[in-house]
Amino acid sequence: MRVLVTGGAGYIGSHTVLTLLEAGHDVVALDSLANASPESLRRVGDLAGREVDLRVVDLLDEQGLTDAVVDARPDAVVHFAGLKAVGESVAEPERYYRTNVGGTLNLVRAMDAAGCRTMAFSSSATVYGRVTQVPIREDAPLGATNPYGWSKFMVEQVLRDVAAADERWAVGLLRYFNPVGAHPSGRIGEDPTGTPNNLVPFIAQVAVGRHERLVVHGGDYDTVDGTGVRDYIHVVDLAEGHLAALERLTTTAGAHAWNLGTGRGSSVLEVVAAFSAACGHEVPYEVRDRRPGDVAASYADPALAASELGWTAERTLAQMCEDAWRWQSANPNGYAE
Ligand code: UFG
Repeated sequence: MRVLVTGGAGYIGSHTVLTLLEAGHDVVALDSLANASPESLRRVGDLAGREVDLRVVDLLDEQGLTDAVVDARPDAVVHFAGLKAVGESVAEPERYYRTNVGGTLNLVRAMDAAGCRTMAFSSSATVYGRVTQVPIREDAPLGATNPYGWSKFMVEQVLRDVAAADERWAVGLLRYFNPVGAHPSGRIGEDPTGTPNNLVPFIAQVAVGRHERLVVHGGDYDTVDGTGVRDYIHVVDLAEGHLAALERLTTTAGAHAWNLGTGRGSSVLEVVAAFSAACGHEVPYEVRDRRPGDVAASYADPALAASELGWTAERTLAQMCEDAWRWQSANPNGYAE
């Protein structure tokens, strides 16, 4: 199949482009390069043995987007492109809604014009808002705690309504838990701009000496060791989840939410220990106050994806940390060299 991947040069996008190419699909990557480097897809091309077709387009450029989608003639779209920093979304809500919600509306219209109505959307476990019960099933109550989360929530609703109005649409709402790690080659990985907000990229930068120590946000949660528990999922497992979702969407109409997680929770200190083992030295940390908006524990019930997609995450926390470390140590400054 021919797959258009928006945000294809980004972290999860680049890994998914590689997985699709390896499965024998044709891929057109679309990216504004606002928060990604074309070097990621150059390396994906090396790994796949096929050059990646990258079109530099912004989703907010309605005409440019429509031209690109019509020209790409995709059978399906994987839609990653969007803004994703929680703190930034609180400071600049309008930009977040315009880009994430408005950009998706433009994409839906462009896909209609191209006669392509199959989409896997990059949603997030953040749509579960204030989690009250774990493991989290897809039918848990939805909500959000910041504009980024609301933008994902709104896009899910838009896509559900689009699929309800026109039965030619097939949409997967893929709710990611905490994607970490890198391709085992160490050639592609996560390259955050500025100081990372997320745990594993921050630990990785501490391990290469870019920061003195990790600040653990809260040691008094009601969890195994008092620190926050999350469902970390290897980015290659996540990429494979997209492939499984696309295959399923070619035979089913309507909108479907699927959790992409492992079903296992790990605490911050367990991640620190796994990363220390992977990099061969202790990662220094200090425990400080809780981070506002954080919940104690969030992890998936992955049973629906297992039964409907035939997909389960296989890779361990040790592999996630080993692969993140291979990427970080070989590319201490990410793609900028
Ligand atoms: N943490 C620290 N120190 C840090 C960074 C994080 O202790 O420097 C802790 C957090 O308190 C939390 C855990 O590590 O307990 C994971 O934090 P992340 O920021 O890596 O991830 P979150 O679970 O907070 O958020 C992630 C994504 C969001 C997404 C959300 C969905 O970053 O985009 O999952 O649940 F919305």
